[in-house]
Amino acid sequence: MKLAVPKEVRSGEKRVALVPDIIAKLVKAGLEVVIESGAGLTAEFSDDQYTQAGAKVQSGDVIKDADIIATVQPLTPDAMKRLKKGAITISFLSPTTAIDSIEAAASAGVTAISLELVPRISRAQSMDALTSQALCAGYKAALVAAELSPRFFPLLMTAAGTVTPANVVVLGAGVAGLQAIATAKRLGAVVSAYDVRPASADEVKSMGAKFITLELEALEGSGGYAREMTEDRAAKQRELLTPYIAAANVLITTAAVPGRPAPRLVTAQMISTMAPGSVVVDLASETGGNVEGTKPGEIVTTSNGVRMWGGKDVPSQLAFHASMLFSRNVVNLLMLMTKEGVVTPDFTDEIIDAAAVTHGGAKRTPELAKK
Ligand SMILES: NC(=O)c1ccc[n+]([C@@H]2O[C@H](COP(=O)([O-])OP(=O)(O)OC[C@H]3O[C@@H](n4cnc5c(N)ncnc54)[C@H](O)[C@@H]3O)[C@@H](O)[C@H]2O)c1
Repeated sequence: MKLAVPKEVRSGEKRVALVPDIIAKLVKAGLEVVIESGAGLTAEFSDDQYTQAGAKVQSGDVIKDADIIATVQPLTPDAMKRLKKGAITISFLSPTTAIDSIEAAASAGVTAISLELVPRISRAQSMDALTSQALCAGYKAALVAAELSPRFFPLLMTAAGTVTPANVVVLGAGVAGLQAIATAKRLGAVVSAYDVRPASADEVKSMGAKFITLELEALEGSGGYAREMTEDRAAKQRELLTPYIAAANVLITTAAVPGRPAPRLVTAQMISTMAPGSVVVDLASETGGNVEGTKPGEIVTTSNGVRMWGGKDVPSQLAFHASMLFSRNVVNLLMLMTKEGVVTPDFTDEIIDAAAVTHGGAKRTPELAKK
């Protein structure tokens, strides 16, 4: 069967769905791999590297006669319509935002697999692209903060006297938050963090950071995710967090609730309590912002001199390794469906059942949801 990787078309997307290193595994499994010429360039992978790895590199439309199509971003509705009936797509394909692509996949008779819907069970960890990409974003967030800050992160004892370490506060201690904590710690900052899930306290402490305990109920949802806050709780959380934010040199926010706009954790009033030269990095800027006033892809300087960086396509800013990890997630998922060179989705497998959003000309409801 033929697996195709077209160039990503969404502006700002620099990742590629398969990197050369992974091609040998696919060829060994009996698949023919076709890469659109130039598809890997923005992630630093050349056509020659793909050819040497055993893929065919082609110009023009590589998807129309492919059996499987792997991309990072969802295929556009037009691209879905060009696929042959029965083709399988693997990509990010959010059921809340990629609605047109999902409709087009259903009417084209395509089996579309959404990486966002891969369940968070231990067997699927190696296929969890949300996790691998959040890891990249969290690392980048801490580096951006260090770069924008006019202060050192570490404690320094110099002949000219002692430099105190930066005080970094991280809100949201999931995959991205924990990686931001780890990176800021490696740079020598003093880090504290808050999350609504009680389970995150031990994870934060295991990174050598301090967990901020607030007198508030926990908000643990299903699948290891958080639940949405009521407005009352949100207001109370903001009030209790204000002194921590006022004392921070750097604030990194990573909070999210699946399928919802980003929770608003920090208001402009709270930012006005920070000292001039403080830095805010909001990884949730693209989904509404954890911090009032951040803009995706921009640095906004407030009237009190706080520089606020709004994240946009953050994993793409680490395109080489983000692509490498993404490729492994895609291939692990693909191997689950591949026997002797033939890829067949098995809907009795709970991973495929949960992640396939269309099949056989219709949108799907996972078996679990039917029970
Ligand atoms: N395969 C697995 O078992 C698996 C894989 C990945 C993650 N997980 C678990 O899921 C957790 C969350 O994953 P994620 O990072 O993808 O989540 P996410 O991106 O949906 O959210 C990021 C963090 O924001 C937090 N948050 C939400 N609302 C908040 C608020 N109002 N205030 C403060 N924090 C808030 C969440 O609790 C979460 O930790 C992980 O830490 C882990 O425990 C499990």
